[in-house]
Amino acid sequence: MGASILLLPGDGIGPEVIEQARLVLVQVSEAAGGLKISTADFGGAAIEKHGDPLPQATLQAARQADGVLLGAVGAPQFDQLPQDKRPEKGLLRLRQELEVFANLRPARARPALADSSPLRTQLVADLDVLVVRELTGGIYFGSPRGFAGEGEKRCGFNTMRYTVGEINRIAKVAFAAAGRRSGRLCSVDKANVLEVSSLWRETVSALSGDYPQVELSHMYVDNAAMQLAANPGQFDVIVTGNLFGDILSDLAAILAGSIGMLPSASLDAAGRGLYEPVHGSAPDLAGCDQANPCAAILSAAMMLRFSIGAKDVADAIESAVDKALASGVRTADIAADADQACSCRQMGEAIRENISL
Ligand code: IPM
Ligand code: MG
Repeated sequence: MGASILLLPGDGIGPEVIEQARLVLVQVSEAAGGLKISTADFGGAAIEKHGDPLPQATLQAARQADGVLLGAVGAPQFDQLPQDKRPEKGLLRLRQELEVFANLRPARARPALADSSPLRTQLVADLDVLVVRELTGGIYFGSPRGFAGEGEKRCGFNTMRYTVGEINRIAKVAFAAAGRRSGRLCSVDKANVLEVSSLWRETVSALSGDYPQVELSHMYVDNAAMQLAANPGQFDVIVTGNLFGDILSDLAAILAGSIGMLPSASLDAAGRGLYEPVHGSAPDLAGCDQANPCAAILSAAMMLRFSIGAKDVADAIESAVDKALASGVRTADIAADADQACSCRQMGEAIRENISL
């Protein structure tokens, strides 16, 4: 029996990049053991149709799927809505409901894109960072949260909270990943100021005895941002909380050339996952056929690797992306010259032509 995949195109450029990923999945379906692909409403698109960014039917389909591939959420017409009515809330609920606490965001230099990085070519040549971001806890979900008071005294507040259990489970994922890579793990926190970070540091340190082959270091988040920009080659795996991971993974993405290149996997304890490009919905590009579908296609490859067990097919897709780039095909975000830029569809086609199974 083949694996079932649920696509959640979402908002903005989500539908167009997911369409290119869908065509890739259709092409490799047989090699991946036969894929049953379906689609459901999500995000702003679902608010418009059902009044809810995560309709019950979508959540149920996501729970039943072997892998979920999401485009992007968020659109300007919802920006004025209260937090709990926005498309983003659907994404946060989906992550929490599926318990996909381990968000893996790999950023690596692709030789063909060295010129697209804002850093000097020699600085990014050895960029190969995996950001392991805790995804279902921390300040995104902590309570109490809300607004209180009136006038000048009115305040908004959130709570950054982590339990030892939550820190242990994400740290174990990161130690294991570092063990499979070059063996260096950097835990990022703000332990000079925040209690939650002191507990984070203490807990991660206590685990390190179980992973003698991994060299653990700690860094404050402000310094980590500077070090990533100054000397990204020093990092292998970074493990950090939800908010710091959100910020550092965008930084890592641009170092790699474009946020349009970066895939991500969010896994639960059993390895089931939600896969999404790191980029957002880019409303200004929506419907223009200009978006970069690479991150969505590479997210589909991560899904085949981690949740479907089709490692060879994932390898073939990843190398097709490299081959397409090496042949000079570039969407606007990575093109040296805007006049030479290809469309989202053409990029997808070029990748599909280069898949050899
Ligand atoms: C991301 C995004 C989301 C996040 C938003 C859209 C809620 O920025 O996946 O990085 O903050 O987690
Ligand atoms: Mg983000």
